[in-house]
Parts: sequence; structure tokens; C-alpha cells
Amino acid sequence: MKKNETFEVVKLTATDYDEERAFLTKCRKALRRKAFFYPYTDDQLRAVMDGGEAFGVRGENGRLVGTFNIDLDEEYAKELAAGIRNSTGGAVDVHACYEASGLMVDGGYRGKGLGKTLMRAVTTRANELKIDLCGVVHIENIASLNTFLGQNFVIAGLFELNSRYIFLYLLKKFDFSFEFTQECDRISIRETGAVKRALSMAKLGTAIVGDEIVFSRLSRTGLK
Ligand SMILES: CC(C)(COP(=O)(O)OP(=O)(O)OC[C@H]1O[C@@H](n2cnc3c(N)ncnc32)[C@H](O)[C@@H]1OP(=O)(O)O)[C@@H](O)C(=O)NCCC(=O)NCCS
Repeated sequence: MKKNETFEVVKLTATDYDEERAFLTKCRKALRRKAFFYPYTDDQLRAVMDGGEAFGVRGENGRLVGTFNIDLDEEYAKELAAGIRNSTGGAVDVHACYEASGLMVDGGYRGKGLGKTLMRAVTTRANELKIDLCGVVHIENIASLNTFLGQNFVIAGLFELNSRYIFLYLLKKFDFSFEFTQECDRISIRETGAVKRALSMAKLGTAIVGDEIVFSRLSRTGLK
């Protein structure tokens, strides 16, 4: 990364498909924990870029150094919401939350605020569209969890695809913020069973400290 390099957030369109695909493939290959970025199939990426909203960050030479998308697939948004209702025993009242997916910053550019910049672009757009967002993040991916939690997402669900892929659902409602009573539990990200139990008791994750999730109890069920 060049010293004092400036960056621009851009909307990507279907014509940028090959570039985003090559960027994601290259960056995922370089990850130490590949499970942290669940890859799109070619069709899924096309559908997200054609039917959803795709954002990128470009450096001074125009090179793509970060991506983040909103998947506007309605059926999938309902599935994610059902997952959150199931995880929280119905305490979180959400009916469709659209996946914020494809968050990736080039390895040489991490830790400089670009993830946060992309997160702001996506949440601003979700507010304009009046839609709730859901991040699906590997339970051990602290950098990504912090990037979502930093924009007031809350950990509201857990989904176990298999033993390699255990995901947390991070929810951001566009029209209100959850209110919590004080912090009630801290649970290690490795204790999947305990995380599930906390969620089922209407406790939501609001921060990460070390490798522990900080849980707080909802003050009023799903209401402002
Ligand atoms: C997740 C990712 C996009 C974050 O991008 P980034 O540009 O490095 O993030 P930022 O510098 O904007 O930091 C955002 C927040 O995350 C925190 N963070 C970033 N890297 C971190 C790390 N390695 N450990 C702990 N927290 C970290 C920052 O402190 C910041 O929190 P703050 O707002 O409270 O200060 C980047 O690490 C990445 O591309 N990872 C590989 C792909 C991946 O895992 N994608 C997520 C798929 S769900």
C-alpha cells in the first residue's frame, strides 16, 4: 500500500463481474483460514452483482482493493430471518434480512479502516432501501465480527453447516436499534453449545473481548 494513498468507494455492476471474481479468488487463496470466506459459486456471484448491490473500494491506480455486496434475494432473506427467530426462540422479530456478503479487503490493505468504510457504504444503502441486513460470519473470524459489531450489528443467531463451518448471524435492523439490559455473559467463541444456549435465552452478542463474545439481554423483546 502506498503511503497516504487515497481510496474511492464505487458501485460495481455486472460489467465488473470478472474483476470482482478474480479479486475474491486471489484474496481467498491467500487466506490462512480459508473457512473464513465462504466462496460464492459463479452463479451466486453473478446473481448478487446483477440483482443486488455491489460495492468496491479502488486505490489511486484504480485497482480493486475491497468488496462488499448486498444480496437482494428475497427467499434467502426470509431463510436467514427464520434462522434468527429459531436461534432466539422467537425473541427477535424479523421476517426478512438480506445478506451482506463478500466482505473482503486485500491482504496488503487490512487494518486501515477500509472494511469499516465498506460497512458504512452498505449500511447506508440498506437504510435507503429500508431493509434489514444479516452478516453470516465464521464464529472464529474476529476481524470480521468486529467490523460488523462496529456498525451496530448484533449477534442474533448461530448456524452450523458442518464441523468446519459454524457461522454467526449478525443482524442490523434499519428502523431501530435494540436496547439491552446490562452485559450478562461472556462466552468463548469455541463454546458453540454455550453460545447457542445464550441466544435461545434472548441474549444477543454485542461485542468481542479477546476470544469471548459479550452477551446482553434484550430489554424488551424485539421492540425499540
Ligand atoms: C474482515 C476484513 C474485511 C476487515 O477489513 P479491514 O479493512 O482490515 O477492517 P478495518 O481496518 O476497517 O477494521 C474494522 C474493525 O475490525 C477490527 N479489526 C480489524 N482487523 C482485526 C483483527 N485482525 N483482529 C481484531 N479486530 C480487527 C478493527 O479494530 C475495527 O474495529 P473498530 O471499528 O472497533 O476499531 C478483513 O480482515 C478481511 O478481508 N479478512 C479476510 C476476508 C474475510 O474474513 N471476510 C469476512 C467474511 S464474513
